[in-house]
Amino acid sequence: MFSELVRKNRSIRFYDDKNVPFSKLRSLIDDARLSSSTLNKQSFRYILITDTQLTEKIFNMTNLPTKAKVPLQNRPKAFIVMITNKDLQLSEKFLYYNIGIATQNLTLSATEKGLGCIVLHSINFDNLDKVLKLDSQKKSVSLIGIGNPIQKVEIANIDNETEDLTYYEKDGIHVVPKLSTKALIYREI
Ligand SMILES: Cc1cc2nc3c(=O)[nH]c(=O)nc-3n(C[C@H](O)[C@H](O)[C@H](O)COP(=O)(O)O)c2cc1C
Repeated sequence: MFSELVRKNRSIRFYDDKNVPFSKLRSLIDDARLSSSTLNKQSFRYILITDTQLTEKIFNMTNLPTKAKVPLQNRPKAFIVMITNKDLQLSEKFLYYNIGIATQNLTLSATEKGLGCIVLHSINFDNLDKVLKLDSQKKSVSLIGIGNPIQKVEIANIDNETEDLTYYEKDGIHVVPKLSTKALIYREI
C-alpha cells in the first residue's frame, strides 16, 4: 500500500477545472503537522489559497506557464505557502530538512485523497511575500500547487546512472526517470 502510494505521488503540472475546498486543504495540514522537526519546534505556518485572482497571480509567478507550457485553465486551483519568521533561530539546513519532511507528508496525503501536487521553488519568494502582503517579520519558504490531476505520469527505472535523468513527454505521458535501487546503493559493507 505504501509502496503504491509513494509511486503514485508524482509532481503534477496539469489540473482540471474543479476547485479544491478549504476542508480538503486543512486535512492535508492535519497530516503535515505530525512531521518530525528539529527540536520539535514546528517553526513554519501555512497559508491556504483558493481565491481565483490570487491563484492566477501566483501561477503566473511560477515557471509552470513558461517551462511546462501549462495554460491558465489547467493551473493548480489551490496553493499552500509555508511561511516562517525571518528571525528564526534555526539554521537553513534544519529549516529546509523540516520543510522537506512536512512537504512529503502533505503530498502523500493529497495523493491518497486523489489530488495532485507540485512543489514550486522556481519563484521569487520576496515577490510572493509582497503579493501575499505578509507581515514584515515573516517570509515565505515554500510553495505547493494543488488540484485535481489530469496529467498521466509514469516512472522509468534507470540502471545506468550516467543516463539523462531529465523528465520528458512521450505519447502524451509525462515520464520521470528514477534511478533503480541497484544504481543508488553505493556500498554494502
Ligand atoms: C525543492 C523542489 C523544488 C521544485 N521546484 C519546481 C518548480 O519550480 N517547477 C516545477 O515545474 N517543478 C518543480 N519541482 C518538481 C521537480 O521537477 C520534480 O520533483 C522532479 O521532476 C521529479 O518528479 P517527481 O516529483 O514526480 O518525482 C520541484 C521539486 C522540489 C523537490
